[in-house]
Amino acid sequence: MLETPENLSGIALVGSGSAVPSQTLSNEELGLRVETNDSWIRERTGIETRRIISKNETLTGLCSKAGSKALEMAGWDPSSIDLIILATSTPDDLFGTGPEIQASLGANNAVSFDLTAACSGFLFALITAAQFLKNGEMKRAIVIGGDQLSSCIDWDDRRSCILFGDGAGAVAIEKTTAEKNGLLAFKMKSDGQRRSCLNLRQFSEHLPLLKEKTYQKGSYQPIQMNGQEVYKFAVKEVPLILASLLKTAQIEADSLNWLLLHQANQRILDSVADRFSIPHEKVLSNLSKYGNTSAATIPLMLDEAVRDSRIQPGDLIATSGFGAGLSWGAALLRWQGPS
Ligand code: UT7
Repeated sequence: MLETPENLSGIALVGSGSAVPSQTLSNEELGLRVETNDSWIRERTGIETRRIISKNETLTGLCSKAGSKALEMAGWDPSSIDLIILATSTPDDLFGTGPEIQASLGANNAVSFDLTAACSGFLFALITAAQFLKNGEMKRAIVIGGDQLSSCIDWDDRRSCILFGDGAGAVAIEKTTAEKNGLLAFKMKSDGQRRSCLNLRQFSEHLPLLKEKTYQKGSYQPIQMNGQEVYKFAVKEVPLILASLLKTAQIEADSLNWLLLHQANQRILDSVADRFSIPHEKVLSNLSKYGNTSAATIPLMLDEAVRDSRIQPGDLIATSGFGAGLSWGAALLRWQGPS
């Protein structure tokens, strides 16, 4: 079929990349700081170690590296990129870290901005970027998920500090024909009523400005998490949204090649897989090595499985992101890879 603009309504996933800090922090090492131990963390979460950004690294650096690898796999000239979205809750610059990544990639013709939706961020950014490609003039986008939650953790709170790590992942997507579409369906949800389960809130102090006038001076408090509530939310809502996604796409769970969930806790991954009778070999997991890297988990896992050839061109992947907000979402993807 002739590829006229009218039938270029699909999105192809053609490249991926990722980057993690060089510094590791094992469960045993964490036990030197808080009252915890390797077997508790492994049994309750599946995590063995995580990566933490150290002196000579930055989140911007990791995200740029991940984006650059995705660009390289796609075989694109940086000047051909129209859009770069960075999903993060921990930007190096709150005014926007995306433009700095754009500059380092040499993507001179792109527009770049940040999007914040915690652990759902990458999925929401991917869906957002896809809308620009489907409806507008844009043809190529890089979507990056990266977080440095190590900078926002209370390292003396053993209920939360064991979970998180730092990292970045990216995908390259481009406009394609409807027949080659790789974003087959998606769903997004949020529920601010349940926001207090997981927060990274600004604490405001009221300081005098002029006589009878004050201003609020803010600084961020460490992550506050009710782990049990977040756990219950995930094992209830993720199967529901995945079931709704599969119904919309008219796909049976046994047709899926891979289940790619936000890497929060191995027990959550197993529980969701069991609800759909998906064998555990089809459940992608690397959280033992990296912990929960927030917006990075999905592209970091995708890139690993693409590069070690587990994910093959044409594979059907059900993915779901979930976390603070509360927010959650799901998408049915078909990996194309570079042409
Ligand atoms: O992107 C989303 C981010 N958040 C999540 O994914 C969080 C989801 N929730 C979870 O993954 C789990 O709730 C946790 C891993 C955080 C906790 O596991 P749990 O099975 O829900 O443990 P719990 O909070 O019910 O604690 C059980 C016990 C408690 O002792 P008592 O009160 O029963 O005596 C805790 O004090 O384990 C204790 N405990 C620990 N012990 C050793 C809590 N944290 C630790 C620890 N090491 N790090």
